[in-house]
Amino acid sequence: MSHDVIAIDGPSASGKSTVARKVAERLGRVYVDSGALYRSIAWKAMSTGCEAGNPAGIVAALGVMNVECVVVNRAVRYRVDGYEPAAEIRTEQVSGYVSAVAAVPEVRAAVTKWLRGMTKFGPLVMEGRDIGTVVFPDARAKFYLDASPEERARRRSVELAAPGGQADVTRVMSALADRDRRDRGRKTAPLAVAGDARVIDTTGLGIDQVVEAILYRVSEVTACL
Ligand code: DC
Repeated sequence: MSHDVIAIDGPSASGKSTVARKVAERLGRVYVDSGALYRSIAWKAMSTGCEAGNPAGIVAALGVMNVECVVVNRAVRYRVDGYEPAAEIRTEQVSGYVSAVAAVPEVRAAVTKWLRGMTKFGPLVMEGRDIGTVVFPDARAKFYLDASPEERARRRSVELAAPGGQADVTRVMSALADRDRRDRGRKTAPLAVAGDARVIDTTGLGIDQVVEAILYRVSEVTACL
């Protein structure tokens, strides 16, 4: 029997967080943002003064972290040493630092184990980079969302812009390209399309269209069980 997990992978700003959250809501499943777990670990390691270029230091910092995964309103939240970081994990500094943390094999092994353990919370919608390829290769349904670099940079700039302002799209596009390169190029569990994933190019599609496409595919897969 496959794990009752819907895996949604893809690069940054491909629309996967918004879509995954909505799919989980529509299906009454628990939503898991695996990137937020990498970010929480990165934030804590960074706040202890550990350099991104020091994998042994990152592993040592992870070794003394107490990470708890709890469900609040049908979404998994992360507490590190009793504190739940929120806005802190979305800063530019953490976004720059997290790819180095996510490339450390010991960090990936620990996170993969925590993510697999979340099936105890019930049926899941989990988003990330390696959910369909590594974490749950037997997931019930797998999706890979993508969008053109221009569209992804446009979306991310809107998210980053201060109210009434506009973030620099060219700079955002180059930061996204850097992260893609690191996510796709790392040795352990790089960002890749699972052979059995349904690829959806979200460029030019609205959130609801993507959500409906996923729900339709999930109903097809479920009908075959
Ligand atoms: O989705 P995000 O941008 O919040 O992810 C943060 C970082 O974690 C990003 O560098 C990719 C990495 N990540 C990963 O390697 N594997 C996952 N399953 C999820 C995120």
